[in-house]
Amino acid sequence: MALRVAVIGSGPAGIYTAEALVKQSGEAVEVDVLERLPTPYGLVRYGVAPDHTSIKSIAGYLRRVLELPQVRFLGGVTLGEHLSVADLLACYDAVVYATGAMVDRRLGIPGEDLPGSVAATDFVNWYCGHPDVDPSRFTLDSSEVAVIGVGNVAVDVVRVLAKTAEELSATDVPHDVLERLGDSQVKAIHMIGRRGPEHAKFTLKELRELGALANADVCVRPDEAVVLGGDFPRQVRGNIEVLQSWASREPAGRPRRLDVRFWLRPVEILGADRVEGLKLERTRLSDEGRVVGTGEYETLPVGMVLRSVGYQSVPLPGVPFSEASMTVPNEAGRVREREYVAGWLKRGPTGVIGTNKSDAAETVRTLLSDLAGAGGGPLASVDALLAERGAHPVTYAEWLAIETAEAELAKTLGRGERVKLVGLEAMLRACRP
Ligand SMILES: Cc1cc2nc3c(=O)[nH]c(=O)nc-3n(C[C@H](O)[C@H](O)[C@H](O)COP(=O)(O)OP(=O)(O)OC[C@H]3O[C@@H](n4cnc5c(N)ncnc54)[C@H](O)[C@@H]3O)c2cc1C
Ligand SMILES: NC(=O)c1ccc[n+]([C@@H]2O[C@H](COP(=O)([O-])OP(=O)(O)OC[C@H]3O[C@@H](n4cnc5c(N)ncnc54)[C@H](OP(=O)(O)O)[C@@H]3O)[C@@H](O)[C@H]2O)c1
Repeated sequence: MALRVAVIGSGPAGIYTAEALVKQSGEAVEVDVLERLPTPYGLVRYGVAPDHTSIKSIAGYLRRVLELPQVRFLGGVTLGEHLSVADLLACYDAVVYATGAMVDRRLGIPGEDLPGSVAATDFVNWYCGHPDVDPSRFTLDSSEVAVIGVGNVAVDVVRVLAKTAEELSATDVPHDVLERLGDSQVKAIHMIGRRGPEHAKFTLKELRELGALANADVCVRPDEAVVLGGDFPRQVRGNIEVLQSWASREPAGRPRRLDVRFWLRPVEILGADRVEGLKLERTRLSDEGRVVGTGEYETLPVGMVLRSVGYQSVPLPGVPFSEASMTVPNEAGRVREREYVAGWLKRGPTGVIGTNKSDAAETVRTLLSDLAGAGGGPLASVDALLAERGAHPVTYAEWLAIETAEAELAKTLGRGERVKLVGLEAMLRACRP
């Protein structure tokens, strides 16, 4: 009899886990991938920037896993709402948690919750059409915007703010969002690093793309581009060279301007009823290598602050969680007997999509060695349990109907291959007419 495994979450980690279970197991295996949204692929659909179409095409690979005869997709099923850990353990031989990292890290400074201070998680969800965020949520009515953080998510956010709606028209950005981007009043974007160019987390390819923006000049201050010391890895050397080349050129007079700033940390988001400014303190590294303030301040007159300082996981009900690392404690993927973890929930919110493949393979090795020969015991039926609770999972065929509706919408609007449907209702209407 087959080993029955539930994978919770259909992002890259969950789907690579399903693939590894099928490929690595010498015995028969059946995998259910349970996902809270009606749509699969996690951050590949709701994180990867809409204009990065070649990265988004990884969905084509993930799709083939969901089409394996041993794998089943059950959308619209939430662990903690429709099913508990005890339910899962009654219905499956093992469970793998792969629910990623859905919320933002906090800055912990005054003014962080003022209207106009926005977490990158929300902004990214907005332009990616995530059903958790309404398309009317943001109006880009400020002429100056600050983006805090110099990681790849900050670069994505900056690029979306800097591009014109025409440049994004062929992407899958929801139509209402595209219209709001078209009405954007943004003229100046400030991207803020609390350390130097040599410490920035963005990667060279992504940084170079900013220099190629048709609608924005990228500016770096010569004094902030100076880097002391020298033996840096190739990626870092590349970043420094690009930033220094920008520091030595004149702006070409494009409609928008992006200032990439370094050695500044946010100390307060200013404003009475909404964001009116961002107070920054100049920084340096202490002898121990920590970021410390110098007591020198500057204020940017921004009406919006986008906080892009990293994602973090949320605890799942009934599953162990470390508040220190904000991950599920595990040994090579094992959490407890018959419970496993993979992806960002296992190792924290770092690494590219491919990193989750080797990570999932490790978890599956542990699972298969723990459970060798364990399949075939009496198990409850998850389908019966969900039906009893009035939950009607979105099937893979229904997800394909959502995709078809998105392709048709793009055709009707004269846009690219697909335009995202927004909101659970619209998605369910498309797959259950
Ligand atoms: C904005 C952004 C852009 C990125 N761009 C790139 C890029 O261009 N290239 C690249 O290589 N990497 C990129 N990454 C990194 C990449 O997306 C991650 O490495 C990867 O998505 C992590 O996979 P995961 O499966 O652990 O999490 P996720 O992709 O977040 O998947 C988790 C899934 O679990 C589901 N879920 C959550 N809670 C529950 C629950 N209780 N019950 C059921 N399901 C649940 C979620 O809905 C989601 O579908 C980006 C990351 C971000 C944040
Ligand atoms: N195209 C791509 O391949 C792509 C696109 C998007 C995301 N991703 C990946 O997804 C992962 C997450 O990316 P991310 O950008 O969210 O996170 P990240 O790479 O960890 O970057 C976070 C940034 O926020 C800064 N920061 C953290 N706390 C801060 C604070 N209190 N004040 C000021 N700045 C602060 C960090 O600075 P310090 O370094 O000083 O802490 C860093 O610059 C990364 O592995 C990334 O490569 C990849």
